[in-house]
Amino acid sequence: MKHILITGGSSGIGLAIAKKLMEEGNRKVISLSRSQEKIERALFTHPEMEGEVDFITGDVSKAGDCQKVAGYLKDRYGKLDGLVNNAGMLTAGGIHDIDYELWKANLDINLNAPYLLTQMMLPLLKASGNASVVNISSVASRIPGRSIAYSVSKAGLDMITEFLAGELGPYQIRVNAVNPGLVETPLHLDSKVVDDESMYREMLAKSAGKYPIGRIGKPEDIAQMVCFLLSEKASWVTGSIIRVDGGSSVFNEILKRKNR
Ligand SMILES: NC(=O)c1ccc[n+]([C@@H]2O[C@H](COP(=O)([O-])OP(=O)(O)OC[C@H]3O[C@@H](n4cnc5c(N)ncnc54)[C@H](OP(=O)(O)O)[C@@H]3O)[C@@H](O)[C@H]2O)c1
Repeated sequence: MKHILITGGSSGIGLAIAKKLMEEGNRKVISLSRSQEKIERALFTHPEMEGEVDFITGDVSKAGDCQKVAGYLKDRYGKLDGLVNNAGMLTAGGIHDIDYELWKANLDINLNAPYLLTQMMLPLLKASGNASVVNISSVASRIPGRSIAYSVSKAGLDMITEFLAGELGPYQIRVNAVNPGLVETPLHLDSKVVDDESMYREMLAKSAGKYPIGRIGKPEDIAQMVCFLLSEKASWVTGSIIRVDGGSSVFNEILKRKNR
């Protein structure tokens, strides 16, 4: 039985990863997130997860909560075969908009938490003998996106990925990042990047035209890649930063105008 911890498994991309892993079988998925209400919503839409996915509550940006989770996993499961650092926060804006407190909050969740959690999980990951860490970054790590704090935190997460792949390879711990393009999840509405549902729909429709594949992403598109990286099929893949973005990073406005 493989034991896999996902941060933020109660919503969006994390929920799709938890569901796919559960369906693959022979995996115990543990999800760590804050809101009990979101967990109940997830179980309402996916009743098959009840009793199968171990939803626990805690805040990844609090060292004490991460420590508790490490203790819980050690006592209950004894090892960890997969860690998906997925929980994230997005505050839109540049230096005129994001004050220092918000800057720190974004970095705490998106950058410091994956570092801290990976560090705290090391004894359990080493005990696996064949472990995989997947960091959910973003295409915004390589281009300034909607938020300075978000882009900087994800750029740092890419470097954590590359650094740790080199450091932890000898312990048979692989470390990779998946960098999604725009994916339809509650993130943008919850983070107030858009004011309301109609503004969100407009943003999705406008963005779709910039994806060569012709649509924005679904959480399942990302889950497929994450599950591959967690599996033994990816046993020689480490230190990779993998864009899963419908080609948005290579979109070419001039070609689009020429061809249509
Ligand atoms: N959606 C996109 O377009 C997109 C694109 C590129 C990258 N990403 C990345 O994908 C990841 C998942 O995003 P999503 O779109 O699936 O967002 P989402 O639907 O809002 O889900 C976020 C999950 O993270 C949990 N979470 C947030 N802060 C947390 C904290 N401090 N401690 C523990 N859990 C926390 C949330 O639960 P609680 O609030 O209950 O804690 C929720 O389960 C993020 O890292 C995001 O940056 C998303």
